[in-house]
Amino acid sequence: MNGRGLFVRILVVAIGFLSACSHGPEVGKGQRIAEEYCAPCHDLTASSSIRHGPPLWGIHQRPLGNIEQFNYSPSFQERRKEGDFVWSEMNLDRFLGDPRGLIPNNRMSAWDPGLHASPSSGEPGKSMDLVRASLASMGHYEPFRGFKNPSDRQDLIAYLKTLGAKGEDGRKEAPQPSK
Ligand code: HEC
Repeated sequence: MNGRGLFVRILVVAIGFLSACSHGPEVGKGQRIAEEYCAPCHDLTASSSIRHGPPLWGIHQRPLGNIEQFNYSPSFQERRKEGDFVWSEMNLDRFLGDPRGLIPNNRMSAWDPGLHASPSSGEPGKSMDLVRASLASMGHYEPFRGFKNPSDRQDLIAYLKTLGAKGEDGRKEAPQPSK
């Protein structure tokens, strides 16, 4: 190969590399992350059912702690009383990077006997060891401690923003804000 050919090759590789680096958030990748890491605890669909965590349909720009039927932790309730906390992109990014840093003692990042015990037992916490063992064996409901990689968070947030985004039919079914 002559020098010119080599130069062109290097240029092609370099351009390919740069364009691979500069791509924006990927919704598809975010969806895969959400299905693996969030769906065990959160309903991501318009049916907005209550699971271990509150439903995430319409989460972008939703006020914190806003699902009436969901029993939030005291720290979430306190934070809500403080006022105008909305799940903006920035707050989602901070929360998903370090949930405990943003809202200490939240239930998403901790084992919570009341939360994880079988609802049918009627006695939260009693069967905790059993529940913990069986959930762990399924690989689900591990406390969520955050994603270090900013691009994982950006992909995830790009996907979260599509859930119940304006114009989608499902938005109508999103839970109404509580007072
Ligand atoms: C171990 C179960 C669990 C996992 C896994 C989990 N969450 Fe949560 N999440 C919760 C719980 C429980 C709450 C309510 C926290 C509280 O009351 O302290 C919550 C709250 C939230 C909130 C605030 C909702 C509101 O109504 O204010 C957001 C946003 C959120 N989670 C996003 C996510 C995303 C995105 C993922 C995936 C990366 C995820 N969560 C993974 C359990 C989980």
